[in-house]
Amino acid sequence: MTSQQFTVARDDLQQSRLIDIVLPDANNLPADGLLVKVDRFAFTANNITYAMLGDQLKYWSLFPAPNGFGNIPVWGFGDVIASRHPNIPEGERLFGYFPMATHLIIEATDVSKRGLRDGAAHRQNVAPVYNAYTRVGGDPAFAGRAGDYQALLRPLFMLSFLVDDFLAENAFFGARSAMLSSASSKTAFGLAHLLHTQRKPIRVIGLTSRGNASYVASLGCYDDVVTYDDVSSLATDHPAAYVDMAGNGDLRTQLHRHFGDKLVYSGRVGLTHQDATDDSANLPGARPTWFFAPDQIRKRAKEWGPGGIDTRFGAAWTSFVPMLDRWINVTDGRGEAAVQQIYLDTLNGRVRPDQAHMLSLAA
Ligand SMILES: NC(=O)c1ccc[n+]([C@@H]2O[C@H](COP(=O)([O-])OP(=O)(O)OC[C@H]3O[C@@H](n4cnc5c(N)ncnc54)[C@H](OP(=O)(O)O)[C@@H]3O)[C@@H](O)[C@H]2O)c1
Repeated sequence: MTSQQFTVARDDLQQSRLIDIVLPDANNLPADGLLVKVDRFAFTANNITYAMLGDQLKYWSLFPAPNGFGNIPVWGFGDVIASRHPNIPEGERLFGYFPMATHLIIEATDVSKRGLRDGAAHRQNVAPVYNAYTRVGGDPAFAGRAGDYQALLRPLFMLSFLVDDFLAENAFFGARSAMLSSASSKTAFGLAHLLHTQRKPIRVIGLTSRGNASYVASLGCYDDVVTYDDVSSLATDHPAAYVDMAGNGDLRTQLHRHFGDKLVYSGRVGLTHQDATDDSANLPGARPTWFFAPDQIRKRAKEWGPGGIDTRFGAAWTSFVPMLDRWINVTDGRGEAAVQQIYLDTLNGRVRPDQAHMLSLAA
């Protein structure tokens, strides 16, 4: 049996290739091994960041591929079709991190009623969240459209939730407004939703491209929408915070020069821009720093105790989901051509922000 994998050239992300990997048969799986058929997965700009930072943050090591190619990790669903673990039956449905592929072998460990981890040696040098799978069979919160929202948005909304919490915990570093770049992105509008509903009187300002400005304005979670070519019009009479979603170096430089010392926080969370430059060291205003989600998770896990993050995140998610029927349209794509097209469209910034893509390579 073979697994088809949609791989990309690690040193030239415009190149992709479908490859066949021979899998062991059910009897020859590793101890406690599961053969999982990858059913469907979400693809957004965040997955491009995984590829851009593949070497630095070890994303390429999660699902190794041969000859300078790499598997970009995606969030999605898979069904166990063969199992050597006594407590995981065939037919079990899992939600978690997968390659864009037809199959994945998982070495099940830490199996509980709610989930398991992949204990494969090559996966152990990344944050634990990337090796965790939730058992979601029969759970309506992970079925149908609700399930698509989980795959498309839940991991992104965790970042939105953590940045909102971090800014509030630090009293916005004295800022009276928060500017979010890539304002049309799911991560940004998740954060804008939280700021808008919970952190008044902080003004939430969406920075976006000209073509997406009307979409961003229609969301209703930004107080102001300003296009990238118009940031010099932003008022500088108050301290402001900046959350940089896409890593556009020119925009960062422009904002720092425009606000000077009034820019009291400059946090970087993503890297979608392929021409990203880094001249952060010499800019006026707060020094740009990477926001590292696992650090905030570790801190809050300690402070809030068992279940503390889950409870708060659950409440935030519940307030967010009702917005989504109006904010995004989910479309399904199946097969190599569809996967390649959405991959390249996302890589090259051609996906409309109201379109959210669920993909599959499964036959
Ligand atoms: N650090 C973390 O843990 C973490 C977690 C989640 C997300 N993020 C980051 O947040 C960002 C948004 O991710 P998402 O999945 O929410 O995005 P998404 O919903 O797919 O975002 C779509 C929007 O992002 C911008 N964009 C998309 N492709 C682009 C490209 N090739 N070049 C430049 N801009 C592009 C455009 O926004 P505009 O027209 O508005 O500019 C586009 O409308 C990513 O950079 C991601 O890495 C980081």
